Formats: sequence, structure tokens, C-alpha cells
Amino acid sequence: MKTEQEIINEVSDFVREAVQQYDSGHGWSHIERVVRLALYIHECEGRGDRFTVELAALMHDVGDHKFAVHDGPAEIRALLGRLGVDGTVTEEVVNINENISFSKGSDAAPKSDELQIVQDADRLDAMGAVGIARAFSYGGFKRRELYDPRAGLPGQPGVSSSSRNSASTIHHFYDKLLLLRNLMNSATGRRLADERHDFMVSFLDQFMREWDQGA
Ligand code: ADP
Ligand code: NI
Repeated sequence: MKTEQEIINEVSDFVREAVQQYDSGHGWSHIERVVRLALYIHECEGRGDRFTVELAALMHDVGDHKFAVHDGPAEIRALLGRLGVDGTVTEEVVNINENISFSKGSDAAPKSDELQIVQDADRLDAMGAVGIARAFSYGGFKRRELYDPRAGLPGQPGVSSSSRNSASTIHHFYDKLLLLRNLMNSATGRRLADERHDFMVSFLDQFMREWDQGA
């Protein structure tokens, strides 16, 4: 029988190797931050199972574009099965992997404590200073404009509220990042999200003032 710490170490090794090969290292630092945030939220909230939270945070992106194998549930069941993890824990980790994302998950269905916590942690990492850095890094990778003033922003006359395919990285804030604060599941998540949200709002404000300076 492996200890929980041995299982965490082996899962960490597996995920670190899998994301490094396909994401030049950036994927792993995101995973590490999500694990730390999820454990912190779990501690503040005092609900959910800690081992499940940590495993699910480590494996929340398994199967997505950063990974070579795109069947997340099959990968998780194979690895956790080999490590002798309890079946109910494994199925909860699979449930979180399948329902965590903005697009895949339904916000209407009831969520387990563990899903609520890991989802808040993943969403928080898309917000604030780190979220801004990640957005422009992703935009650069996709060769997107920083900002395209020809495409209106939501709230401006004649512009519908959201387009799935952000016209520029600044548009991604209005399409997704500024909506995350209201999607927090836990009180701790909301507390952390408030500060990160306000920082993004000041960033956008300053960005627009500089963009139009002298005009
Ligand atoms: P995660 O790795 O947290 O599951 P994604 O792979 O969907 O999330 O996105 C990685 C990062 O890239 C996130 O910070 C997200 O906000 C950002 N991102 C995703 N789509 C866009 C886009 N169209 N423009 C700018 N940033 C984006
Ligand atoms: Ni993620």
C-alpha cells in the first residue's frame, strides 16, 4: 500500500512530465498555483476531502490541449488504478476533471465540495496580475492583437454582450475574465476574486487611458 504522500508525489511527476513536453513548462506552474490555491481554499472553508482536492487540482487539466492524450477520464483511471487509489476518490477526481471548465461544465448541476474548491482555484489563476500575464501570453501564442478598437467592447453601442472567439486579448477580459468573480462557488474564492477582479478593472482603465493618450 502506498501512502497518500507517495501517491501525490507520483501523480505530480506524471503531470509535470506530461505538461512540460507539450507546453514548454508554462503548464506546470499553472498546476502548482492551482494546487496551492485549492489547498488554501480547502483549509479556510473546512469542507471537502483534502486528498481528493489535491489529486483533482493536480489532474484538473489532464486530457486538455496541453496533454498528448485527450481522454482525461481514461488517463486518470489508469494512473490512479495503478497507484491503488480508492475507487470513490478516483471517480470524484474524474468528475472534477470533466466538469471544471467554463465550456464543459454546467453551472446549473449540483457540485461537490471538492469540485467547488478546485474550480474556484482554477478560475482565480485566470484573474488578477497572473491572469493578465497568462492572457497576454496566450494571445501572443495565438498571434492575437493586444487590443483591436475596431471591434467594439460589450456595453458600447451596437455591440452584443459576448463573442466566443475574442477579437483581441483585451476582448477576452470582457468575454470571460471579468465574468469569473460572479461564478465563485465558495466564500473564500469570492474574497480572493474581489481583489483580483478590482486589479483587472484598474489595469483595463489604465490601458485605455494610455491607448488614447494624446488623441
Ligand atoms: P486552464 O489552463 O486554466 O484550464 P485555458 O487552457 O482555457 O485554461 O487557458 C489558459 C489561459 O489562457 C487562461 O489564463 C485563459 O484566460 C487564457 N486564454 C484562453 N483563451 C484566451 C483568449 N482567447 N485570449 C486570451 N487569453 C486566453
Ligand atoms: Ni487549469
